[in-house]
Amino acid sequence: MCGIFAYLNFLTPKKRGEILKTLVNGLKRLEYRGYDSAGVAIDSACSKDMALIKKTGKVALLEEEIENRSKELDMDRIEDIHCGIAHTRWATHGVPSEVNSHPQRSDYAHSFVVVHNGIITNYKEVKVFLQNKGYKFESDTDTEIIAKLIHHFYEQHPNYSFRELVENVVQQLEGAFALCFKSKHFPGECVATRRGSPLLVGIKTKTRLATDHIPILYGKDDDPQTPTDADTNSEHRPHGRADYPVLPRSESTSEFEPLEDKQVEYFFASDASAIIEHTNRVIYFEDDDVAAIKNGALSIHRLRRLYDDPHSREIHTLKMELQQIMKGNYDYFMQKEIFEQPESVINTMRGRVNFETKTVTLGGIKDYIPEIKRCRRLMLIGCGTSYHSAIATRQLLEELTELPVMVELASDFLDRTTPVFRDDVCFFISQSGETADTLMALRYCKQRGALIIGITNTVGSSICRESHCGVHINAGPEIGVASTKAYTSQFISLVMFALVMSEDRLSLAGRREEIIEGLKNLQQQIRAVLQLDDKVKELAQDLYNKKSLLIMGRGFNFATCLEGALKVKELTYMHSEGIMAGELKHGPLALVDEDMPVMMIIMRDPVYTKCVNALQQVTARQGRPVIICEENDDETKAYGHRCLEIPRTVDCLQGILTVIPMQLLSFHIAVLRGCNVDCPRNLAKSVTVE
Ligand code: AGP
Repeated sequence: MCGIFAYLNFLTPKKRGEILKTLVNGLKRLEYRGYDSAGVAIDSACSKDMALIKKTGKVALLEEEIENRSKELDMDRIEDIHCGIAHTRWATHGVPSEVNSHPQRSDYAHSFVVVHNGIITNYKEVKVFLQNKGYKFESDTDTEIIAKLIHHFYEQHPNYSFRELVENVVQQLEGAFALCFKSKHFPGECVATRRGSPLLVGIKTKTRLATDHIPILYGKDDDPQTPTDADTNSEHRPHGRADYPVLPRSESTSEFEPLEDKQVEYFFASDASAIIEHTNRVIYFEDDDVAAIKNGALSIHRLRRLYDDPHSREIHTLKMELQQIMKGNYDYFMQKEIFEQPESVINTMRGRVNFETKTVTLGGIKDYIPEIKRCRRLMLIGCGTSYHSAIATRQLLEELTELPVMVELASDFLDRTTPVFRDDVCFFISQSGETADTLMALRYCKQRGALIIGITNTVGSSICRESHCGVHINAGPEIGVASTKAYTSQFISLVMFALVMSEDRLSLAGRREEIIEGLKNLQQQIRAVLQLDDKVKELAQDLYNKKSLLIMGRGFNFATCLEGALKVKELTYMHSEGIMAGELKHGPLALVDEDMPVMMIIMRDPVYTKCVNALQQVTARQGRPVIICEENDDETKAYGHRCLEIPRTVDCLQGILTVIPMQLLSFHIAVLRGCNVDCPRNLAKSVTVE
């Protein structure tokens, strides 16, 4: 998973140093998406050629390299019209190295360069074809074939436009990609396209854009066609052959004019956090859109119009503010996001839970509720923390909907090719909305006629746009790779859904009222739990040099054990395991002795007695558990070696409060162990590869 960024200024004179700074800053905003190497491509200072600067390691090292080459790069020269592309990488093909960094080039003369986020699954076939044409490859990446394939098409058809060449290239590609191209044969132009990876463009003009839509220009056969398998199922795309067929010319007569002033700047990026400091006017591209900028004009093209294809793309106004993506007065994004939870949970419920009338409205799925109520089962599908939010709410969903509820890890769900039916309702839970396993599972269920509900935190994301309906968790941008506020917002979103589904059940009125009251108190209860930060930090002092940590609980708090263990693992690189307390006797108890760190979650809920039994099994083996329990529960506290007391809430919401000490604990242990809190090793914020 990588970050791509491109910047094109048209009749807005900029120093080359400013252009490079814009490109590098764009990468810094995307660094959480990938950070093992980075690169930029700009026009050469002294010829028609291009300057490629690439560096292994974080973006800061690329910035240093640019500084070292500032003389050669002629930083003060003014460029009236210029296109630069940039990339920060999370390696999928080829080890992190300069030659494997992007931009990848077509040839030593840099005729074409490209930056890519995604995976090309048929790159080996295309590589063989190109090698047979005499191309010599220098990298181990899949991306390099894209740069060389467009060069091949250009050699065959030098009169084709830049955009037409790109259209021909993407017709031959299988897999997922978001691409930005630059070419010395097309100075001042940029072409971008996507399939399965996110891509958007920001538009900055001196005067406000007079329109909120940009027309889509379709190819020759403009009459709408019904989707065929080939349209909806990528494996039916034409495979590479000895002679790639070239599309007929589709030069559009009209290109979008950026309205009055021709002075315009465009910012392509993998996500909005790299654009918001420049402009809040953005367009989210859909799969197979080809966006071309020529003479300052942006046009959006699609080869064929399917019946349900729109005539234009909307220009959205981003609500995200710059400070939202900055760290504020915290040292780490993750720390900030933990402490944002009193606000983020309110934002999730804002406009949805009416605490006066004790009603819940989810506008994004309102029209589908009758259909959902007729379904035969609910399936909740996700990965990692998102999967845990489903575990956390399964019991309440069963209680309030009285439907069977399946909770699935997306990868395993697909491995099993689980049977799915038209009367299934499938939820796809994803903070990024781009997780490949979850997206693949969504498409699997959609093809089988199930109703698809997206629970995402990223507007315009693939899961968001490919769902029939959905709930945006409104947690705000989550930059830290380890998910925290998204988890509690996903949790609450699913609780709200359960409340919506039971709104007409008189027998459940009392229970619903109790839960809505519990939601109302959450904000100040989360604040109370965050007051434990110093106490948790002391606990971290005792644990940070241990080898493992067992976290035990059951019922409504089992998800907290899984999520807490994941947080500890991914942030501190220390082993940790979430254990169902009822399973202790079946094996895990053998792990317990006076040296094994154990945490136990014991709340005054229906499984309290069973949890105390498990606690006694642990202490009988000289275990010295740290207990998370309710405030002033002296009886339970007496069992514990140490205690973290949290406010009492309704049983099905306890998991929102009990997870916070685990978030804080993993954070403090990570800091004590000198780990990179926001970018843990080997991990990326959104896993857009299967
Ligand atoms: C969470 O802390 C992890 N970073 C990871 O498990 C994450 O939850 C998982 O990759 C799913 O991501 P998504 O919610 O963006 O789909």
